[in-house]
Amino acid sequence: MIAGIPRETTPGEKRVSLVPENISKLGGLQITMERGAGDAAGYPDSAYVEKGARIADDARSLYGGADLVLKVMPPTPSEAGLLKEGSTLISFLYPLANIETVQKLTARRTTVFAMELMPRISRAQSMDALSSQATLAGYKAVLIAADTLPRLFPLLMTAAGTIPAAKVFVVGAGVAGLQAIATARRLGAIVEAYDVRPAVKEQVASLGARFVELPVETKEAQDAGGYAKAQSEEFYMKQQKLLAERAQASDVVITTALVPGQRAPQLISGEAIRGMRPGSVVVDLAAEQGGNCALTEPGKTVVKHGVTIHGPLNLPSTMAPQASQLYSRNITSFLLTMLKNGSLTLDLKDELIRGPLVIQGGEVMHPPTKLALEQGRR
Ligand code: NAI
Repeated sequence: MIAGIPRETTPGEKRVSLVPENISKLGGLQITMERGAGDAAGYPDSAYVEKGARIADDARSLYGGADLVLKVMPPTPSEAGLLKEGSTLISFLYPLANIETVQKLTARRTTVFAMELMPRISRAQSMDALSSQATLAGYKAVLIAADTLPRLFPLLMTAAGTIPAAKVFVVGAGVAGLQAIATARRLGAIVEAYDVRPAVKEQVASLGARFVELPVETKEAQDAGGYAKAQSEEFYMKQQKLLAERAQASDVVITTALVPGQRAPQLISGEAIRGMRPGSVVVDLAAEQGGNCALTEPGKTVVKHGVTIHGPLNLPSTMAPQASQLYSRNITSFLLTMLKNGSLTLDLKDELIRGPLVIQGGEVMHPPTKLALEQGRR
């Protein structure tokens, strides 16, 4: 069985799906990589060849020759069209945002696993690419903030006087938020955090931050999978008002709040920004999903009312060597659950296989994607 590693084509994407150190774990698979696929992540072709990989000269021959394609970013519709009929793809997919790609993939009768749909269960922790990449994003968000803020993070007592520590407020204490808290604490900031899920209170405290309680009703904040549930308009309005007070008492606000399948909730209003001290910084990690801050411009850094607002996209790619290493381990770990004597065996009774399975042999298996395709046909 030939496993292909294509070069990523999304602008700005530097990661690669498999790093050389994982090749020997995938015994029974012949790895073929597109020439230069690992270059931007710091893994030259020679490092793959040393581990037994072959090199394909271009995307067409790579996709056309592979029984299994391992990718980071969702394929474009034209990349999907290059996949060999009946082959398997493992990648981030976000099918609802990439319906044309899904149509191409079904037409090629492929089997497709979406890494972002991996269940958040203990057994799948080593395969959890959302977590591995969010950890890096949370870390980098704090460094961006520290670099932009015209103040020091730690408390300094010097002969010339005492400089107080910076105040950082983290909104959303999931994987990225918790890493942001830990990083800001390591830099010496005073950290507060808030999440709609009260379950994270202890985790926030264990990292040395103060959990902010808001007097808003947060019943049913969490779904069975541990994700936040969407709340009413009224709830969000109330939340915005209360969060504004905390934001205005902070030097840095880092927002990470997401609700699966929906636009990111708007939590920091323009009014809240207007009331922040000039020179303060917002890093909006939800920019890709529309942003948690009303004034965020995804992919840009803007200054509004004297506050610098960063809306970075794809922060993991800025740490491509390690982001790729972690992603590669996630994908390798997932593959090893299916790889038996050099071929893939799919146990559909296992939630670990069934969860990320979007298409099997051309048939759409993921109910929301199926629905979106049917609605598109009407
Ligand atoms: P996410 O990226 O979907 O959202 C980030 C955070 O934003 C979440 O903590 C969410 O509660 C929060 N949020 C959403 N709406 C909000 C609002 N209006 N105000 C404030 N905060 C809001 O979450 P992530 O990081 O992907 O984690 C999702 C869940 O999965 C968590 O319960 C996490 O503990 C769990 N998890 C479980 C793992 C496992 O057991 N294998 C691994 C990783 C995560």
